[in-house]
Amino acid sequence: MSEKAVNGLCSQGKVLTLDTMNPNVRRVEYAVRGPLVQRALQLEKELKEGAKKPFTEVIKANIGDAQAMGQKPITFFRQVLALCSYPDLMENDNFPEDTKIRARRVLQACGGQSIGAYSASQGIECIRQDVARYIEKRDGGVPSNPDNIYLSTGASDAIVTILKLLVGGEGRTRTGVMISIPQYPLYSAALADLGAVQINYYLDEDNCWSLDVKELRRAVNEARQHCIPRCLCIINPGNPTGQVQSRQCIEDVIRFAKEEHLFLMADEVYQDNVYKDNKFHSFKKVLFEMGPEYSSTVELASFHSTSKCYMGECGFRGGYMEVINLDPEVKAQLTKLVSVRLCSPICGQVLMDLVVNPPQPDEPSHTSFMKERKLVLSNLAEKAKLTEEIFNTVPGITCNPVQGAMYTFPRITLPQKAIDKAKEEKVEPDMFYCMRLLEEEGICLVPGSGFGQKNGTFHFRMTILPPIEKLKAVLQRISDFHVRFTKEFS
Ligand SMILES: Cc1ncc(COP(=O)(O)O)c(C=O)c1O
Repeated sequence: MSEKAVNGLCSQGKVLTLDTMNPNVRRVEYAVRGPLVQRALQLEKELKEGAKKPFTEVIKANIGDAQAMGQKPITFFRQVLALCSYPDLMENDNFPEDTKIRARRVLQACGGQSIGAYSASQGIECIRQDVARYIEKRDGGVPSNPDNIYLSTGASDAIVTILKLLVGGEGRTRTGVMISIPQYPLYSAALADLGAVQINYYLDEDNCWSLDVKELRRAVNEARQHCIPRCLCIINPGNPTGQVQSRQCIEDVIRFAKEEHLFLMADEVYQDNVYKDNKFHSFKKVLFEMGPEYSSTVELASFHSTSKCYMGECGFRGGYMEVINLDPEVKAQLTKLVSVRLCSPICGQVLMDLVVNPPQPDEPSHTSFMKERKLVLSNLAEKAKLTEEIFNTVPGITCNPVQGAMYTFPRITLPQKAIDKAKEEKVEPDMFYCMRLLEEEGICLVPGSGFGQKNGTFHFRMTILPPIEKLKAVLQRISDFHVRFTKEFS
């Protein structure tokens, strides 16, 4: 036997090649961690090795990862997690009594009283109960059933799980899923992976990225020619566009979903990130306020996460979804599907519990918890305002108000010569722009083309997460770059 054959190779080469691998996986794209990020990492390495650059650090404003941008974790969360991870710390007097009570409660609910044990696949029961109580309180008393709560590995996992349930068919019977453009690329990536048809509906940039039901109707009618639309995904508050939907708009969307017989997915991971005079309305609450004609028929899955809001605990991978009006037999299939992966990480589940059940006014951690939470949210509100104000002073940059979430998605006017040069280099014009910005200023953004945008328009997405003083400097440097770039290619 030749050595090649011993190693599992035969004369035809690898079993798994670009040609033989799953073509759906090849089609997956995820701009938030695309080639710009690869280059940013390389630049960081070069800086460390002493290379001379026009900047001294690389600022990664490409991803909504608050703690990577210097945000401090909430003390109460970390204390309880520390106690759960290492219960010997219960003897330590530096931990407030309420953190110990929380940790004991969670540990008692864990197998072997350890967070190292698997939990039930749907999640630890007392945490699901806490989530249901949180939703009831958030939604002014609309009931929530813990049986409808699934704890998940971040919101991403739950979103993909629901899409998996929805996708099927072949040719013209393939499942179509409506997603906003611009969109958060998890959706396009998951749809490509699952072999579903992506149905684009465009948000209205001229009206603060609002959603117009007429546009939904256009998109669904066109899509019916080549697939079976089954699902409508909404991100509210929006990523990358930062809009917050009005109650009226949510009502219109729910009515549309019922009329068109669509499953609704409401991605509400930014529910606390609402600035100025905007208010967050959950789809669940509005659905129930519309009466039984809707609340007992429209199928809805809504998602939340520990990664966003004031928590920024992305690495713990905590999240939950609530499912409403799911066919009981499908719900059994959902439970079966999540059980294949055993359970979501227990630290993430515990964190989710602390988010939905924070310290109460009579508990020792309450004051510091509220202070830390408020500081993060008020800083974000200030940064949202600052971003809009500074960008709108630059000729060639137009920025909608950041009403919510943690991103800005300004429109940039690019000179024709820059567009031609990008074509020559076989990259999207806004990728060309962002790459130049990275090379010249060390600032890493994501080109608008990674999220989808109307043909002929160009954007970038930037997080508003850097600390205020740093953000001001970043905004100024982007503004100066834009003026320079425009001059160079005019
Ligand atoms: C709209 C939206 N949904 C879901 C997610 C995924 O979050 P998680 O970390 O909970 O998986 C993100 C992350 O940025 C997001 O912006």
